[in-house]
Amino acid sequence: MQAVACPSCQHWNPAADAWCARCSAPLGRAPADNADAGRATQPLAPPKELALGAVLGAGRYRISGLLGSGAAGDVYRAEDLRLLRQVALKVMHLHVLAQVNGRARALQEATALALIDHPHVVRIFDRFDEEGRLVLVLELVSGGNLADRMAQRRVPPNDAYVLLHEIALGLSALHAASLVHRDVKPANVLLSARGVAKLADLGVAQDGRARRITRLGARFGTPEYMAPEQHRGEDVDARTDVYAAGVLAYELFAGQLPFVRASEHDLAVAHIGEAPDLAPVVAAAGPECAEVVRRALAKLPEERWPGGASLASAWAVAAQRAGHAVARQPNTPLDDGPLGPAPAPAVVAPRADGIGIDVLTGPRAGQRLAFEGGRLSIGRRDDELGSALGRVEFDDPAMSWAHCTFVLQPDGRVVVYDDGALNGTWIDGVRVHGGAWVPAGAVVAAGRTRLAVAA
Ligand SMILES: Nc1ncnc2c1ncn2[C@@H]1O[C@H](COP(=O)(O)OP(=O)(O)O)[C@@H](O)[C@H]1O
Ligand SMILES: [Mg+2]
Repeated sequence: MQAVACPSCQHWNPAADAWCARCSAPLGRAPADNADAGRATQPLAPPKELALGAVLGAGRYRISGLLGSGAAGDVYRAEDLRLLRQVALKVMHLHVLAQVNGRARALQEATALALIDHPHVVRIFDRFDEEGRLVLVLELVSGGNLADRMAQRRVPPNDAYVLLHEIALGLSALHAASLVHRDVKPANVLLSARGVAKLADLGVAQDGRARRITRLGARFGTPEYMAPEQHRGEDVDARTDVYAAGVLAYELFAGQLPFVRASEHDLAVAHIGEAPDLAPVVAAAGPECAEVVRRALAKLPEERWPGGASLASAWAVAAQRAGHAVARQPNTPLDDGPLGPAPAPAVVAPRADGIGIDVLTGPRAGQRLAFEGGRLSIGRRDDELGSALGRVEFDDPAMSWAHCTFVLQPDGRVVVYDDGALNGTWIDGVRVHGGAWVPAGAVVAAGRTRLAVAA
């Protein structure tokens, strides 16, 4: 049998295959375009690595190391010589740019990322061309990717909840911008030096409004994480990302994938028709967690969590029920920042049940709101949008319909999560990204309303 080397990772594949079994890169041109044309049957030279010290971008960026490689590009650490900071440069592989729509797709990754400003999505600063190659200038996320982290050692359940919650929040930002990531997997989740998760690689993301920029019939995604509809080549939406995040959650808790099969075809059959065995997740993390995974892995999209925001809330609730927290210590910077000693956690004595949230301003001023099942969500009353179960509504035009959620932790502390509120949720004038502890006496601002943990 003739074998063909993957142009991206050099893995040997059967000559009849169109995609690399290891890294999913196209093996030369896809058969729909021109079967076998341009495919090497000799080992290829490795993609030319940029030399250490090379300066790109008209003298602006000096390469100082290789951070990682994927099917679409090599990512280098570099110094921005103009702004004197470290950045990541994603240098697209030439063979990717040469594909039908390859350059358009690579440009789409840049414009999609530019739409998003979120602490759990990697930021893009700029893009430029270097000898025919497209280069993206990205925020440097220096703690490696989650796949490497998982390969090193098992992630403890508490950290897993924090990461899954952050990944879901990152997805909620994409979904709010009508984007579908389509390739959620550990290698596309980056970790900051402090271990904060940031979604990367929007290389195959789809803009729900612009519709197909990708070639019809081409497969995008990674088979182990692909939802049934993605395996069938049908339309995808936010719920497709929820499924992939469910596979990632399964893997994080159970230490193994829900479906392991020898071929892509068998994987598709399993994802489309076989029920995942949730026993390893129950054993590792308990039934609350397994229930979130089960719903994320539903075969029918309508039976899954509808998008990143609801998945994030589901993780917050499951973590709380299982005695974990999804929030990091207060004031933990979400980006790398200068590395100093972590602030000592505030010691708060466990409080009696019946703790609530006091409303300090507005028509509800003076009311004490109670937690139900450890949660308390607040939002603006809107007769058109209707009311959501278990939510306290405010006549506050500056509040978002779903503004924020307070979650009572087992130790009596209260964490507030911003539910994607338009003008944010603030604790003593500091904006909450994701979730943060509410210290005793602090004032939480949601719209024009001020709230505090009942003393
Ligand atoms: N902004 C970044 N900071 C640090 N490392 C990165 C960054 N972006 C990507 N990487 C590293 O490079 C790898 C490949 O990047 P990715 O964007 O996923 O490329 P591809 O589209 O080729 O899969 C990632 O798994 C990660 O290890
Ligand atoms: Mg990738």
